[in-house]
Amino acid sequence: MTTILGLAGSLRRASYNRGLLRAAAEVAPAGITIELGSIDDVPLYNGDLEDAEGLPASVQRLQGQLRDADALLLVTPEYNGGIPGVFKNAIDWMSRGEGLAHFREKPVAVIGASPGGFGTILSQNHWNQVLRRLNTQPWFGGQVMVSRAGTHFDAERNLVSEDLRVQLATFLDGFAASYRK
Ligand code: FNR
Repeated sequence: MTTILGLAGSLRRASYNRGLLRAAAEVAPAGITIELGSIDDVPLYNGDLEDAEGLPASVQRLQGQLRDADALLLVTPEYNGGIPGVFKNAIDWMSRGEGLAHFREKPVAVIGASPGGFGTILSQNHWNQVLRRLNTQPWFGGQVMVSRAGTHFDAERNLVSEDLRVQLATFLDGFAASYRK
């Protein structure tokens, strides 16, 4: 059994990337559990806030989930050719204090969905430099880049494309196999 902490990098209710994360949890092959984390309550990083109050409860919760997980799955939107601020903000908070150590050598995979034609490739590439800085072990053995997301999700953002559900399951299988002994 392996546990992967899954984080989606969008705050909006009708997010394709939230839907993609939910789908990952649904299709995960036997022996793989996707724990659904949330960045919804993470405030904007402010060093003054950290100095005065320490780490917010939402950040401490995420740090604990990351510590206890075997691996991390980032489900990223793309904004202006890069990582959305809210997602980077959450990871920045998570890297504070003891949290930095939880990233070290953690296997990490990145997937994403966009209504456009390039499936978050720029955002996924953007994550590489952050993941390197955090001393993680990024996994490059597979790809899930969902383009034209509107054609693959229903109104409730359920992933309805059977091909993509199979692709997602295969991706998760390969990711888990890469770090499982
Ligand atoms: C976008 N979007 C976008 N899409 C993309 O493929 N490449 C991009 O560079 C951008 N840039 C961008 C900037 C800003 C400020 C916004 C608000 C949006 C569109 C984006 O992919 C779309 O809104 C997705 O639906 C966002 O992901 P969620 O919220 O559906 O998960």
